[in-house]
Amino acid sequence: MTRKYPNLSKPITLGHVTFKNRMFSAPMGGTDITKDGCIGPASTAFYELRAKGGAGAVTVSECMVHPETDGSHAYHLDLKIPGSLASFTYTADAIRKHGAIPSLELSHSGQYAGTYMTDKDKKDSLIQYGVSPSVRADGLQIQELTIELIEEIVAAYGEVAGNAKRAGFGMLMVHGGHGWLINQFFSPYFNKRTDLYGGSLENRVRFAVEVLQSVRTAVGPGFPIEFRMSGSELFEGGYDLSEGIRIAQAIEPYVDLIHVSAGTYQRGFGTTHPSMFEDHGCNVYLAEEIKKHVGVPVATIGGLNDPAQMEEIIASGKADVVEMARALLADHELPRKVVSNQDEYIVKCLRCFTCMAERAMTATRRCTVNPLIGRELCGSEVIKAPEQKKVLVAGGGPGGLFAAYTAARRGHDVILCEKEEALGGILKGEQAIPFKYEMYELGNTYTKLAQDAGVEIRLNTEVTQEYADQENADALIIAVGSVPIVPPIPGLDGDQVVIVNNYYLEKEKVTDDVVVLGGGLAGCEAAIHFGQEGKRVHLIEMREELAPDANIRQRPLLLEEIAKYVTVHTGFKGLRVTPKGVLCADKNGKEYMIEGTCVICALGQSSRRKDVDALLDCAPYVAVIGDAVYAATITNAVYQGYYAALDI
Ligand SMILES: Cc1cc2nc3c(=O)[nH]c(=O)nc-3n(C[C@H](O)[C@H](O)[C@H](O)COP(=O)(O)O)c2cc1C
Repeated sequence: MTRKYPNLSKPITLGHVTFKNRMFSAPMGGTDITKDGCIGPASTAFYELRAKGGAGAVTVSECMVHPETDGSHAYHLDLKIPGSLASFTYTADAIRKHGAIPSLELSHSGQYAGTYMTDKDKKDSLIQYGVSPSVRADGLQIQELTIELIEEIVAAYGEVAGNAKRAGFGMLMVHGGHGWLINQFFSPYFNKRTDLYGGSLENRVRFAVEVLQSVRTAVGPGFPIEFRMSGSELFEGGYDLSEGIRIAQAIEPYVDLIHVSAGTYQRGFGTTHPSMFEDHGCNVYLAEEIKKHVGVPVATIGGLNDPAQMEEIIASGKADVVEMARALLADHELPRKVVSNQDEYIVKCLRCFTCMAERAMTATRRCTVNPLIGRELCGSEVIKAPEQKKVLVAGGGPGGLFAAYTAARRGHDVILCEKEEALGGILKGEQAIPFKYEMYELGNTYTKLAQDAGVEIRLNTEVTQEYADQENADALIIAVGSVPIVPPIPGLDGDQVVIVNNYYLEKEKVTDDVVVLGGGLAGCEAAIHFGQEGKRVHLIEMREELAPDANIRQRPLLLEEIAKYVTVHTGFKGLRVTPKGVLCADKNGKEYMIEGTCVICALGQSSRRKDVDALLDCAPYVAVIGDAVYAATITNAVYQGYYAALDI
């Protein structure tokens, strides 16, 4: 067959090992960590799914090499810990059996030890060791690593590397980026040492070189070592790309693949993990430049999910390997779909940060668009139902579409009815906001998946009680969604008012002076979009905070964008909408006119409860999912849709 993406699909040899393609699964961790730092079964299943999806390599994150100085939130492959070798062996094995090379990320957080522990009290009880003494932003004192401790850590890298090889890992990734310990040594911002490890670049890379030599001694020649680094720290005082190039050149003799990421976790999270406000592949230029100056293969990463873009990166020689983290959560089968020319079925990552927020909040994994993530042990195959049933799905939003798709894969006879003329539900509105375009695309991808799985789609068809009775289905999934809340504020029915969900239909009504009423997620995102378009934007919110429901990773990035473009009025209640703007009152009842010639109503959604209630007795099996239960997230809708279909 002729591969549509020949460069992504072709093998690469690093050291003595050949990887089946150029799409690697980047480290994403670490959850399901047993009390003694081993990889739990849920994590093994998570990594196995990455391998099943076709990635050339799957990197298990983050194995801390020296618990004594890095009392940490992550895995330990320490043979003093009973079961440690076994847990890593099970994971390596689970990855390898699907043809992917298992890799293990070796890491040390340095002065950030314990930052991301869910148990914050424990974090405070640790000693934080860093390259140089200072005080962390959270007030914790950082102690300088002594030469003896440095030597111990270097030796520990080797020891853990040897154990990893024994456990069956076929590659190691040494983490030298994102602000962790090796990066702290590189960085003129962190490294104030005056000994052999500080000052000149040669001195600042010494620790990395010693670590890599220690790892190489442990694993022997030919065993691939990947070095993850930030091509530039991308903050004032950190190292820039020209130093990044020199760092890459200094470590080149000791590694088989230089993996160029960007920035640091603490000072540029939204670039290290490119947010929806960044371009896809915004960090590729760093790898491209470094590749011009080194002879070993180079990998790139950051917001990549489009096969055409990734193919071009390799074809044009910007990098030799592309790595993905979130894109392989959204669709673990992305590499398989690329290799088999099925790319139109790829479910794209929304860059909504549900994954990272969930990890921080509950120490589990979750993905908005892929209900399997974090639940792999519940089974990742959709098994055919023992008996074919007739299934009626009411509502063609993301939850309804995913439910219909899943039911059809189970072999059921599925009809999906949508009362409007197009599918996608609330996601249709996202087509007008460029940084949310992938949310709109999600509706299209789910539609394609559902249609090709055999779902019969009936547009302009409302499922009423009579309709459902007439269809006489065995199962009914009620996914009728929600409606915008439009409170009885005088003037809110005026001509200059656009309901945020309808913006894509009424774009021409939005003038250059916009007042957005409602500072939830939808209101904030619309305000940012108008600001990006150069409009003057006021945002009014009754609560004291904007978007309190946004997840803890997305919210700070959202607020950064708001600060760039929008004048915010929190604690303001809208009293009346007039042709001049919105009359508001503050908490003390003092009135203000917030001027604008167009008003966007973004006051939330409420479930179509009445429609739901009318359908509850219309089939032997009835499930209500998504916004129809209560107005919430796409994450809920898709997850509930999937399981409702499995339960038929
Ligand atoms: C849920 C999640 C967990 C992550 N955990 C780690 C980690 O443990 N170690 C690490 O080096 N990078 C980690 N990363 C960063 C990714 O490896 C990657 O560099 C980043 O997400 C950018 O790639 P992407 O745009 O393809 O997601 C994590 C990313 C995500 C989304």
